[in-house]
Amino acid sequence: MFKKITEAANFIRKRITNQPLIGMITGTGLGNLTDMMEIENNIPYEQIPHFPKSTVAGHAGILVSGIMGEKSLLAMQGRFHIYEGYTVNEITFPVRVMAHLGLKYLFVLSAAGGLNPLFKPGELMLVTDHINLTGENPLIGKNIDELGPRFPDMTSAYDKGLIALSRQKAIEERITLNQGIYVGITGPSLETPAETRFLRFIGGDAVGMSTVNEVIAAVHCGLKVLVIVAITNSNLPDCMTATSIEEVISNAKKVSPSLTKLLTVIIKDLEK
Ligand code: HPA
Repeated sequence: MFKKITEAANFIRKRITNQPLIGMITGTGLGNLTDMMEIENNIPYEQIPHFPKSTVAGHAGILVSGIMGEKSLLAMQGRFHIYEGYTVNEITFPVRVMAHLGLKYLFVLSAAGGLNPLFKPGELMLVTDHINLTGENPLIGKNIDELGPRFPDMTSAYDKGLIALSRQKAIEERITLNQGIYVGITGPSLETPAETRFLRFIGGDAVGMSTVNEVIAAVHCGLKVLVIVAITNSNLPDCMTATSIEEVISNAKKVSPSLTKLLTVIIKDLEK
């Protein structure tokens, strides 16, 4: 695996001129976040050795290098999900490649259902912690010592400095930024009312089908992680309405300009 990571990283390195500081993973309906980037190069996943290929609707499958907020970025337009049949090793492979390329930060942006009744569809939530209910972990198996330790600490998986900076910038920009705990599940079926009640009861504020395994892999290899999710639908047991992918994509698209604005100002003030 480490050899594959190195090969993919070497391939990408030849196609970029600046040393990227930030890696970004964009989710359902949020692929256009890269519109704010001054694009240097588009690298389709299928050209990168050992990269999995993207299949889901709304995900492009391109690694975009460029500049945003005066910093160099590597953005994944399109990501991989357990429900598509990918293994967690495949899902987290790009994260490990980014760490190998010497990036310092990983920004993960996803769509999520709101479990907290105060959060409205079309708002943002800053993730301060997670509960991994995917039944998976990308670190299972022999530890790759070149990447990180056997038992990585998860007490501050979501970087406190990045959380503080995001909150400050959201206030300055007058962007509503809720804050809470993300529960990661596999999907693809959405939650039953009983499951939704359970997820809220155990402390979840939002639920989604991605993110947690990428975050675990990122923390393992020493990246500083920031996760912001777009609340795309209300997932409340007693007034639950059917959720469609169209609703998720449309609400993600609605919130994406304010997310782009917020990210730009966060990145501008980021330490190199
Ligand atoms: N549940 C799980 N994943 C999701 C949801 C949801 O309600 N909305 C967007 N992703």
